[in-house]
Amino acid sequence: MAMITWDVRLETRHPQIDEQHKALIQAFNNLHLAMKQGKGKDEVGRTLTFLTDYTKTHFRMEEDLMARSGYPGAKEHREIHADFAGKAQALSDQFNEGKTLITLPVMTFIENWLVDHIQREDFRLAQFLGGKA
Ligand SMILES: [Fe+2]
Ligand SMILES: [Fe+2]
Repeated sequence: MAMITWDVRLETRHPQIDEQHKALIQAFNNLHLAMKQGKGKDEVGRTLTFLTDYTKTHFRMEEDLMARSGYPGAKEHREIHADFAGKAQALSDQFNEGKTLITLPVMTFIENWLVDHIQREDFRLAQFLGGKA
């Protein structure tokens, strides 16, 4: 498991989306760092809560762009967001209630999900928005 490095492979070229993706990756990296540095449950919990909340904020922004532009893939993209947001919220709740730990496979799942989602669904959306502009 590594921190996610921002580079051109993640760039959609839609300024607002890219700006939020950078913040999202920063939030993931902060969680990674808190775990790696052996921070206490409270601090790890805070970074996890922030990542979960920011993920939802970001999804809403993209969904707003989809709705306003009449993006044809909106329904599928929204469902993919909802599925991940639900998993992230459940993890965050369970961790903060002391019912689960954040394991390496969980971090790897989040990392892969973010990268894959940006490169597939978000690239497709950005391309559509760019083409319309
Ligand atoms: Fe998305
Ligand atoms: Fe996104």
